[in-house]
Amino acid sequence: MKKIKEILKKIEKLRDKIREHNYCYFVLNQPVISDEEYDKLMRELVKLEKKYPELITPDSPTKRVGAPVDELKSVEHREKMLSLENAFSKDEIENFLSRVYKGLKNEEVEFVCELKIDGSATNLTYINGIFIRGTTRGNGFRGDDVTSNLKTIKSIPLRMLSSYPEGEGEIEIRGEVYIPISTFKLINKERQEKELPLFANPRNAAAGSLRQLDPHVVAKRNLNIFIYGVGHWPVSKYENHFEVLQYLKELGFRISPYIRKVKDLNGIWDFCKWWEDKRDELDFEVDGVVIKVNSFLQQKTLGETTRNTRWAIAYKFPSVQKTTKVLDIKVGVGRTGTITPVAVLEPVQISGSVVSRATLHNIDEIRRKDVRIRDTVLVQKAGKVIPEVVKVITEKRTGDEKIFDMPKKCPVCKSNIIRLHNEVAYRCINAACSAQQFEKILHFASRGAMDIDGLGPSIISKLLEKKLIRDVADIYYIKFDDIYQLDLFKEKSTTNLLNAIQRSKKRPLERLIYALGIRYVGSHTADILARNYKSIEQLSKTGEQELLSIYEIGPHIAQSIVNFFKQSSNKKIIEKLKRAGLLMEREVIEELPQLFEEKSFVITGKLTGYTRDEIIELIKSLGGKVSSSISKKTDYVLVGEEPGSKFEKAKKLKLTIISEEEFNELIK
Ligand code: IVH
Repeated sequence: MKKIKEILKKIEKLRDKIREHNYCYFVLNQPVISDEEYDKLMRELVKLEKKYPELITPDSPTKRVGAPVDELKSVEHREKMLSLENAFSKDEIENFLSRVYKGLKNEEVEFVCELKIDGSATNLTYINGIFIRGTTRGNGFRGDDVTSNLKTIKSIPLRMLSSYPEGEGEIEIRGEVYIPISTFKLINKERQEKELPLFANPRNAAAGSLRQLDPHVVAKRNLNIFIYGVGHWPVSKYENHFEVLQYLKELGFRISPYIRKVKDLNGIWDFCKWWEDKRDELDFEVDGVVIKVNSFLQQKTLGETTRNTRWAIAYKFPSVQKTTKVLDIKVGVGRTGTITPVAVLEPVQISGSVVSRATLHNIDEIRRKDVRIRDTVLVQKAGKVIPEVVKVITEKRTGDEKIFDMPKKCPVCKSNIIRLHNEVAYRCINAACSAQQFEKILHFASRGAMDIDGLGPSIISKLLEKKLIRDVADIYYIKFDDIYQLDLFKEKSTTNLLNAIQRSKKRPLERLIYALGIRYVGSHTADILARNYKSIEQLSKTGEQELLSIYEIGPHIAQSIVNFFKQSSNKKIIEKLKRAGLLMEREVIEELPQLFEEKSFVITGKLTGYTRDEIIELIKSLGGKVSSSISKKTDYVLVGEEPGSKFEKAKKLKLTIISEEEFNELIK
């Protein structure tokens, strides 16, 4: 007994030493021992752990590369992961400062400037100083569990360095995972040799690596991380962001050294300009500067919008521009029939990614820039996802260029194209145009809308092509045979899709309003409308003046809503949706019996009757908790098809295992 205790002591001492050296090497970039000495310590630890496997702990430095997994599990963040609004000029930063000063009633404000690292946002969860889970940002509310992959990043401490203040429970630490540019180049070179598809840029490479199923592959990608903040942190004695970063550094986290506290616009602008010049000297991609209000109290006062914080902004560096040739100008048809011209380009590399198309926005823009087919043009990515044409290099003209004219007919349905007065856009007048219907249905079924699992672009195209559906309401009248006859559909996949369609009928009112695709009505506006109107019927009868009286609804939105409900084709669709049994009213939230109060669930494998989000919602609404990892304290392990390793673990721990059927019985 005594011997084991001594060995444990020795092992712990070795681990502490290795952790310390990891920190010096991977975080501080200042190794204090040689690689050989480090390897010797590691070998000694591996040897001891092999001899005494019962003394292995998951936070041991030897446990960085785990076993492959079958799928990535979706996990909810304790605190929402917000995004940043972008600023593209000094003026836009100044506007941000004005909003901040106004929101803080002209109090004095200190700002922190940081580099905006172009990688993949990550949320790390620690309990009592031990790294227990790491997830991707996902949709801001839930992300994928990529713990095993994150463990391969040696600058992420598996156990915090200094003793962790007790009693703070679970905390979230946030940062950007990235691939060094030098590694990115090596990886792509290797992929080219193996004839594998290349990564478009370091950001895609980092995001793709993080979502790998095999940590061994990830371990070779040399991912790294810069921590830039915290999420859920119930008890913190720190008053500002800068102090917390210093504290996190003491705990062993890798903080970017390129941070500065500044007082005003000039200080901010100096920092931005300095890094705009110097960014190429760094071995990681930086796409701008993040400017944050330092004080937590002031951050809290400023608050947030649905997606963004009001206390921080990202200044995006002007993008790199390249010249290339316009091979052709084509037009695309959007959800509302807008015809958008697009330049087809000779492919060109811009900051690591290949650009072969650029939006030309509308005909006025084409005329203003005088873009012609076969012109040589300057293109840029401009911090936005879609590349755009900046200007024509007129000196390169040969006389061979062709002026583009808007087509008179829709390229898809051949109906007339018109331009409404006071609008820049041209539209296809045929509301039944299959290109428009395609976009409408795709939007209707998408995740933030009716979330119909499995109803993606290729199936929608096929259903439209075979005239099995014509509009969004037809989705609810599809029969088994309609789907079954499509390529790749078997009995089970057909049933799954029909079930998903069925389940979507009960989505809340705001989702349906958003899904209808009313122009200018995004998910945020849909939320507002659902709070102000109790049903689609009530909303359809409203007038512009009434809508305008709602805070945040302006004249464009109001007019668009009223127009939408006036159109007979839309009236018919709504009638059809109603007949299909969709929820058309605001739900009265009924307090459900708290059947699973204090009970914890772990779910493994694929369920047939629920998506992951749905089952988690359901368990929670019945008072239960859903955790991503199994422990002795798990009350129920809900097992679906093809369960993962958790199933084995549950059996080993003799936990209560239930099938989907048994679960349905329980809640009946
Ligand atoms: S702060 C609420 N700081 O940029 C503010 N973000 O949309 C949360 N990013 O998803 C972000 N470097 O992944 C912050 N120094 C930095 C950052 C940074 C990169 C990313 C982050 C976020 C996105 C902003």
